[in-house]
Formats: sequence, structure tokens, C-alpha cells
Amino acid sequence: MQESVAPNLFEQGLFSLKAYRLNSYILVGTVYGLMLLGGYVKSIGAGLACPDWPLCYGQIFPSQKYWFNNGEFNWGLWAEYTHRLVAGIVILMIFHLFIAGWLNREHFPQIRTVAWLFFAIIIIQSILGGLTVLHVLHPLIVTAHLGMGIFSYTVTLINAFLIHTTFKQIKHPVSEETGSKEKQVYPSTNF
Ligand code: HEM
Repeated sequence: MQESVAPNLFEQGLFSLKAYRLNSYILVGTVYGLMLLGGYVKSIGAGLACPDWPLCYGQIFPSQKYWFNNGEFNWGLWAEYTHRLVAGIVILMIFHLFIAGWLNREHFPQIRTVAWLFFAIIIIQSILGGLTVLHVLHPLIVTAHLGMGIFSYTVTLINAFLIHTTFKQIKHPVSEETGSKEKQVYPSTNF
């Protein structure tokens, strides 16, 4: 059996390639949920339930008097607020991928392109989200926001696929001589 020293990319830590992989998988589900939430906000007509941006009624957390509308619980406010909150979480997750990707760029060359795409997407999508509110749901901006959302999801899927196949190749490299897959042992990990 072929023994090899564990390469840096298997080191544990917040910005390791292993953390990158885990975050990539979770991001696929989170962005999907965020898009569903956006669709829900639009379909119940709650796009302006928080009439300002980046705050909501001038506050980080809307005060209790906005929670109810004529005695009815204001679902629209919470759908829109949750959409923003989840978008904030997605921004942090992508920021993590950007840093981890950059630190591991030598082990996973495609990561550079993906990292820059992520960075651009999240800036543009957040600005478009804000403009959606500030321009009172202008159809062109809402459409651009939807288009960028679809693009963001595509990139998260491609990224997850790339990191998944990269890990598979590292764990089971194809032998140049026999063409068969060999299992490598990395002593400091449980892979
Ligand atoms: C990665 C970040 C984001 C993604 C992937 C995303 C995705 C989406 C999607 C798919 C929709 C449904 C659009 C449609 O059905 O036409 C939507 C709606 C919406 N999003 Fe986002 N969004 C993000 C961030 C934000 C941010 C930061 C804001 C800030 C205010 C925001 C505000 C809105 C609003 C107001 C709507 C409803 C538009 C309407 O009622 O017509 N989004 N979003």
C-alpha cells in the first residue's frame, strides 16, 4: 500500500479545504432555500414589507409595533426580513469560501475562478436586492435580481461538484500504470 505524507489541504481548521467542501455542500441548500423565500416574498406581494434598505423601518430588527397589521400577524414583514437575514448568512458563507479558496488555491486550481465569481455575485446580488426595494420593485431590477439569483445558484452547484470530484480524485487517484483506482492513506486524517 502506498503511504504518503498528508498534504496541507487535509489540515483541519476553519479555512481548510475540508471546511471549504462542507460549506460548499451546505451553501447549495441554503441558496436554494433563499431563492424559494424570495419567490414567496414576491408571490405574497411583500417586496416592500421592509420599506427601506439596508435597515428595516430604520432599525436592524423591526420593533414590535410593525409585527402586526390591523391585529393580523404581519407574515409579509417576516418573509422579507428572513429573506434578508438568510441573504446575510449566505454572504458570510461565501466570504468564508472566498478566503478558504484563496488559501487553498495551489491545491485546487479551479478554485480561483470560482472564488472571484462568488465574490462578484454576492456584491452584485446584494446591491440588486437593495435596489429592488429602493426603486420600489422596478420590473427591470426585480428581473435582474431573479437572473442573478439563478446565476448564483448555478455557481454554487458547479463549485460543489468541482470540490466533490477533487476530493474523490485525491482519495482514490487513478494509477497511471494500471488505470485502476488506488486508495491512499493520509496518516493525520480519517479520510
Ligand atoms: C444571494 C443573495 C440573494 C438571492 C440569491 C436572492 C434571490 C431572490 C429570488 C430568486 C427572488 C424571487 C424573484 C422573483 O420571483 O422574481 C428574490 C426576491 C426578492 N429579493 Fe432577493 N435574493 C438575495 C438577496 C437579497 C437582498 C440582500 C435583498 C435586500 C433587500 C433582497 C430583496 C428581495 C426582494 C425585496 C424580493 C421581492 C421582489 C418582489 O416582490 O418583486 N434579496 N430574491
